[in-house]
Amino acid sequence: MNRRKFLNLSALTAPLLLSKNAIAHSAQQKNKPIVISTWDSGMPVNAAAWKILEKNGSALDAVEAGAIHIENDINCCVGLGGYPDRDGIVTLDACIMDHNANCGAVAGIERIKHPISVARKVMEKTPHVILVGNGAQQFALENGFTLESAALSTDAKNAYAEWIKKNEYKPVSNIERKQNGPFAPNFFEDGTPNHDTMGLIAMDIKNNLSGAVTTSGMAYKVHGRVGDSPIIGAGLFVDNEFGAATSSGTGEEVIRICGTHLVVEFMRQGYSPELACKKAVERIVKRDREKAKTFQVGFLAMNKKGQFGAYAIQKGFVFSVKSTNENKIYDSKFLI
Ligand code: GLY
Repeated sequence: MNRRKFLNLSALTAPLLLSKNAIAHSAQQKNKPIVISTWDSGMPVNAAAWKILEKNGSALDAVEAGAIHIENDINCCVGLGGYPDRDGIVTLDACIMDHNANCGAVAGIERIKHPISVARKVMEKTPHVILVGNGAQQFALENGFTLESAALSTDAKNAYAEWIKKNEYKPVSNIERKQNGPFAPNFFEDGTPNHDTMGLIAMDIKNNLSGAVTTSGMAYKVHGRVGDSPIIGAGLFVDNEFGAATSSGTGEEVIRICGTHLVVEFMRQGYSPELACKKAVERIVKRDREKAKTFQVGFLAMNKKGQFGAYAIQKGFVFSVKSTNENKIYDSKFLI
C-alpha cells in the first residue's frame, strides 16, 4: 500500500476506529461510586453508605456508616438485637478493610453497640488485626464506647426461650433448609432464619475499594465460637488492584476455603465477580455435595470496574446495589 492509499483509507476508517475505541473505553469506565451489600436488608445500609459516597467521601467511611446503620436496628439479626449463643449471650463479630490492606476486627465482643467502629479503631490505633472477647470489650471501653445492657431484644428473648426448651443446650449443627424465602442464610426447622450477616463493599470516586462486615453470628452457637465474618480472607477481603468480596451464611464452611480471598484470587485470574463467586461456591460443594444441601453460603463481589456479582449454594440469597445508575435488590444465582 502506498502512502496516498494509506492516507485515504485512514480518512475513511478513522471515525470507525474512533467509535470502536469509544465503546472499548466506555466498557472500561468505572461504575463509581457504588456500594453493594448482602441481603435485602442492604437497601437502607446502602442508603447510609451512599450519603458519604455521593459527597465524594471515602469508601472506608461509607462502609462503616452502612454497618453502623444496621447495628442501630434493634429488630435486625445484626448487632445487639441479634440472637444469642447457647448461653443466652449476644456476642458480636465485625471487621473492616481498606484499599491499602489495612484491616481490623473484633470477635465475640459483648454489650458494645457498634463493633464495626471498634474494628476500625483496632485497625487505626493498634498494630494488631483482631481483638477478641473481654480484651475487645476492654479496648472498646478505653476508646470511648459505652457498655450497653446485656438484655436480649424481645424477639431474641422469645426465640431463645423456645430454642432452649427443644434443643436442650445442644450446639446448632446440620440446620435444615426448609424454605426459600429471601433474608435467610440458614434455617431452623420451623423455617425461621437463624442469623444474618451484613457484608458490604464500596468503591469511591477515587477508585478505592473498602469493605465491612458485622454480625451476631450463628444463633445458639457454642459460647466463644467465631465465624467467618471477622476473619480477613474469610468473611471479607479487599485487594485494591483487582476487587473485593464478602460472604454470608455458615461461617465454618467459608473459613475452610478462605472464601473471600479465594473469590478475589479468581478475579485476579480474570473471572468476572459472578463467576469468581461461583467457583468459590463450587469449591465448598465439591467437598460434600449432600452436606452442602443442609446449609447456605453466599458470596458477593465487586471488581475494580465496579462490576458486581454473587453466587450462593442454594436459592434465597439476595443482594442490594446502589450507584448513580441504580438502587435495587438482585437475586443471586445458585448452584444446588
Ligand atoms: N457468616 C456468619 C457466621 O457464620 O457467623
